[in-house]
Amino acid sequence: MNKEFNTIVVIGSQWGDEGKGKIIDIISQNADAVVRFNGGNNAGHTVIVKDKTFKFRLLPSGIVSEKVINIIATGVIVNLPALVEEIEELEKNGIKIKNLYISDRSPLVLPYHPLLDKFFEEKREKSKIGTTARGIGPAYSDYIARDSLRIGDLLDKEYFIERITQIYDFKSKILSEESLGYKIKEIYNSQIEAIEKLSKKGVIITDTSKLINDLIDSGKKVLFEAAQGTLLDIYYGTYPYVTSSFTIAGGVCVGAGIGPQKIKKIIGVIKGYTSRVGEGPFPSEIHDSIAEYIREKGQEYGTVTRRPRRVGWLDLVALRYAKRINNFTSIAITKLDVLSGLEKLKVVVGYRYKGKLIDEFPSSLNVLKDCEPIFEEIPGWKENLLGILDISRLPQNTIKYLEMIEKELDTKIEIIGTGPERNDIIIVKDPWEL
Ligand code: GDP
Ligand code: IMO
Ligand code: MG
Repeated sequence: MNKEFNTIVVIGSQWGDEGKGKIIDIISQNADAVVRFNGGNNAGHTVIVKDKTFKFRLLPSGIVSEKVINIIATGVIVNLPALVEEIEELEKNGIKIKNLYISDRSPLVLPYHPLLDKFFEEKREKSKIGTTARGIGPAYSDYIARDSLRIGDLLDKEYFIERITQIYDFKSKILSEESLGYKIKEIYNSQIEAIEKLSKKGVIITDTSKLINDLIDSGKKVLFEAAQGTLLDIYYGTYPYVTSSFTIAGGVCVGAGIGPQKIKKIIGVIKGYTSRVGEGPFPSEIHDSIAEYIREKGQEYGTVTRRPRRVGWLDLVALRYAKRINNFTSIAITKLDVLSGLEKLKVVVGYRYKGKLIDEFPSSLNVLKDCEPIFEEIPGWKENLLGILDISRLPQNTIKYLEMIEKELDTKIEIIGTGPERNDIIIVKDPWEL
C-alpha cells in the first residue's frame, strides 16, 4: 500500500530570506506543479535569470518556468489587488501567466488589514514586532476569529454582499469607521474588480486540495514552497516575534490539504550565515564591522520592505531545532560565496544561560534573550566561489564547513548556492532523485 509519491517540500530553516525562491526556481525546472502553502505578500522570494530579477510575493517561484502548474493553496492569505499587481508586473517582464490556480478556501487580506497592521504596530510602541505592514497578522487573526471572508465567497455576489455587510457592521462596532479606513462599498469594489481581472487573465479559483491530490496520485512531481522560515512559525518560532502562519513542514498538510504520507522529501534551505528582519532575539547576531561586510556583500536588505537585515553567524543550536521540527531529509545551502574573504568564521555550538550550558533551542523568549552564544571558530576561505559547478572544486575550507554542517545536522547537502543568479549553483545530487 505504500505508494511512492514524487513530492518535495522546501522549507526555510532560519528567520526567512534563506534563498528559497532561487532553490524553488531550480527544482521547479523539472517539476509538474509548484504550490505555495502559507503566508501572504509578506514573503519576498527572489529569482534571478540572466539580467532579469523577479520578486515573488504571492505567486509560486516556479512561475518563471512557465510550463509548470502554479497553485496558491488554502494556507496562503491572499490580498487580491496585490496579486493582480504582481501578475501585471510579471507581464511587463515578459512572463505570461498560465496555469495559475487559487484555492477557493484561501482567506482574504481586506483593504483595512494593512492599515490595522500599521496602527497596531504604532500602539505596541516598545513591544513592536517589526512586521512587513502587509496586514498579515490582522487578516489571519480575523480569519481564526471567524470574522473574515474566503476567496470563494466572492464568486456569489449576493452572498459576498451579505457577509461583507455583517463583518463590516461588526467591525465598526469595535473599531471606528475611520480606523477601518474604507467604506463598505470601496471594500466590495476592490475585491470584485480584482477577481474580475484575475478571471480575465485565466486564473482559476478552485478546490486546490483536490487538484494537488489528483496531481500527486497520478505520479506528477509536485513541489511545495514555504514562505518565511522555521523560527518565524506561529507555534515553533520565537513567539511573539513571528509571523502568523505555519511555516514548517507540517504546515504543508494543513495549507495544501494533503495527508502527511504524501510528503516524500523535505529540503531545508540554510543560508551560510543567518539573517533576521524585524524585532526579536537573535543570539548569533554580529554587531561589529563584519556585519556590515556581510550585509553589503550579501545584499541583505528586505525584499519586501528594503529594511537592512540584521546578520549573524550560523547557529547550530537553532538549526538542529529546525531539523527536528521539520525532519529535513536533505539540505540546500545558499550564499556561501558571501563568506569568501573572511579570515575566520564562527558558528554557535551551544548557549550559556545563567552559567548553565543549553544545547536545545529554548521555548521561552525570556530565556532566549539572555542566552549567550558559545562560538567555535573555524578557518575561512579567500577564493571566489562564483562559477564553480562541481563540489570537488570548492576550496578545502569550504568543504570542511559543509562537512561540519552535514555532521551536526546528520543530513546531506544536495544543493549549494554560489551566487544570486540561477546558474550560480552546485547540484550535488538531483533533488528529484527521491
Ligand atoms: P527567500 O525569501 O528565502 O526566497 O530569499 P530572498 O529572495 O528574500 O533573499 C535571498 C537573497 O539572496 C536574494 O537577493 C537572492 O537573489 C540572493 N541569493 C540566493 N541564493 C544566493 C547565493 O547562493 N548567493 C548569493 N550571493 N545570493 C543568493
Ligand atoms: P520570506 O518568505 C523574512 C518577518 C517580519 C517580522 C515578522 C512578522 O521572504 O522568507 P509579518 O508581516 O509576517 O506579520 O511580520 O516576520 N517576516 C519575514 N522575514 N522573510 C520573510 O519572508 C518574512 N515574512 C515576515 O520582518 O519580523
Ligand atoms: Mg524573502
